[in-house]
Amino acid sequence: MPATHEEYLTLVEEITEHDRRYYIDASPTISDVEYDKLYAELAAAEQAHPEWRVAWSPSQRAGITPVSSFPKVTRTQAMLSLDNSYDEADLRAWFDRCVKGLDGEVPTFSIEPKIDGISIELTYEKGLFVLGATRGDGLVGEDVTQNAKMVRGVQLRLREPVDIVVRGEVYISKADFARINTEREERGLDLFKNPRNTVAGAIKLQDPREVAQRPMGAILYEVVDGERYASGHLASLEVMRRIGLPVSTHNTSASSWEELHEKLYAWQDRRDALPYELDGIVLKINDFAQRGALGVTAKAPRWAVAYKFPAREVTTTLREMELNVGRTGQVTPVALLEPVEISGTTVSRVSVHNWDQVARLGLSIGDRVLVRKAGEIIPEILQVTEKGAGPVVEAPATCPSCGSTLEREPGKVALLCVNRVSCPAQLLAAVEFFAKALGVDGLGDKMVVQLVEAGLVKDVADLFTLTPPQIEKLERQGKTSAKKLVDAIAKGRASADFSRLLTALGITMVGPVMATKIAEKYGKLSALRAAVAATDTAGFVAELSSMDGLGVVLAEHVDRFMRDPQAAALMDKIAGLGFDPEQLVSARAEGPLSGKTLVVTGTLSRQRAEVQKMIESAGGKIGGSVSKKTTYLVAGEDTGATKIEAAKKNNVRVISEAELMDLLAGKDLP
Ligand code: IVH
Repeated sequence: MPATHEEYLTLVEEITEHDRRYYIDASPTISDVEYDKLYAELAAAEQAHPEWRVAWSPSQRAGITPVSSFPKVTRTQAMLSLDNSYDEADLRAWFDRCVKGLDGEVPTFSIEPKIDGISIELTYEKGLFVLGATRGDGLVGEDVTQNAKMVRGVQLRLREPVDIVVRGEVYISKADFARINTEREERGLDLFKNPRNTVAGAIKLQDPREVAQRPMGAILYEVVDGERYASGHLASLEVMRRIGLPVSTHNTSASSWEELHEKLYAWQDRRDALPYELDGIVLKINDFAQRGALGVTAKAPRWAVAYKFPAREVTTTLREMELNVGRTGQVTPVALLEPVEISGTTVSRVSVHNWDQVARLGLSIGDRVLVRKAGEIIPEILQVTEKGAGPVVEAPATCPSCGSTLEREPGKVALLCVNRVSCPAQLLAAVEFFAKALGVDGLGDKMVVQLVEAGLVKDVADLFTLTPPQIEKLERQGKTSAKKLVDAIAKGRASADFSRLLTALGITMVGPVMATKIAEKYGKLSALRAAVAATDTAGFVAELSSMDGLGVVLAEHVDRFMRDPQAAALMDKIAGLGFDPEQLVSARAEGPLSGKTLVVTGTLSRQRAEVQKMIESAGGKIGGSVSKKTTYLVAGEDTGATKIEAAKKNNVRVISEAELMDLLAGKDLP
């Protein structure tokens, strides 16, 4: 909260500027949540120091005066905004205030999806559409009648010859938004940020024919002077429906806190099922007399509130670009961000995938960037919203770990550190991967760094010969933790079958699914190696790729790995330790996932192999890549954008780990 009048005035300026960006430019640079935080500070300051308030404070009006060439429309009943609530405590406080304001009576509420578009007011005279107006500053809006006629859902003639003024939301569906952007991309035009901005721009286009190119819909949610038509809001919506106006079919009602709470939270999981974006749920008191008793503030009615879903798009600052050296030598950029909450989790690291993407976004250190968690899964940087003062991020020339010159594979965007033998970062990643694939608990990245730095682990096979006294000597390690780690490695080794070992070796394209197929054919590593040795590359590739689901490219990777001298030395070392597990072949089970094929990707709270076992024991099949045959894509953290794209293309539903658990428990997904 501002401590001095001067700071207060700066805050007034700041919010005014954000209002301008939001209402006039339709291009906000901060998220709603951040805006509301600023606004709350302003309100608190004005409450503590009423003498500070200035006539031009954003609190003194509902929006901002429109600047455009559309004729102005002055209305008698202001189009108000809604107060937001972000959590249960906020909401409960609002509920309690309502009940208190109604002398202890619990009212009936209307529960409505809050479509994320822009609000519009439609005036009908004798059933004919005569005026469409934007909200503007609440009292003075813009006459966009011609453009409104292009909106599906704006009826030009009602079923009954009534005089009525209604308000609602104009929106663009998610599918149309995606299509418009694809077309813009093909034409080399800037992409729209989100459906809301697209519709805000469209309704204000000067050329109605251009407007017709942007398919917009409308859903109406309020009648002005509703008491002329009914005694309550829900009944007035019925009147609207009867005379032919589009009203949401998802509206419900509640008459107690418990019911309100239950119906509201049911929306958390349903929001993605609707064809348009929701940014929350609106709760309104039904009875018009009760609404009158509670009244309105300058900005919003006391009888309604918007319950906002956790934000999916937030702006934050790019602090630094970290270089991540992967197990296979790929050097990828990872943006380190000022931590922010998105969709309920804190995000501070976001992969930017590759250096072309860094250039496309035009990233510099210190930039304000818009970050989104798409489909509640992978965080990504969408764009720069404000340039920072720091240096432009450039692709490195050398490996940050070993200093060797990086190479770019022809036709590929990835930068590669080709020092496969002694690059410490690659070794770290390979050891971590190996341990994870074998299901070794307690071998976190810090531990791996210690082991590698102390020279105890020079390749993955060294894990098997670690002894407790060696580990005890490391920093922050004691007798117990050392023994625990050695036991965990022994347990991983004892429980691993051939497919796990094959996965752990980290051959390109050979994940648990492919590894299982190969393992079931050859039985154990020594047998696979013998099969490779018994023929030449062409022969082995032909042999392997003749198997169902294994392509030539994958077969070539396996062949190359098996014949690589370094890899061969490592496999000799593993074999020398007596580790050559057999493949266990499991019979297919029957269960809730029978007949379904699931692809599992990203980081889950459980080991991926464990999740796949769970799916198989529930009768499900594990797929290697997303295709038409896939039923669900189970997406964990850091799911790659390509997987999500493939799912979209093939109409495959993307589900979370939690949803998978529901399926495993025999529940249906909503
Ligand atoms: S009622 C006085 N109902 O949300 C009541 N608004 O954040 C004001 N919105 O300006 C609006 N769905 O553009 C209401 N079912 C709904 C809504 C809704 C979306 C929008 C509307 C409003 C904004 C306030």
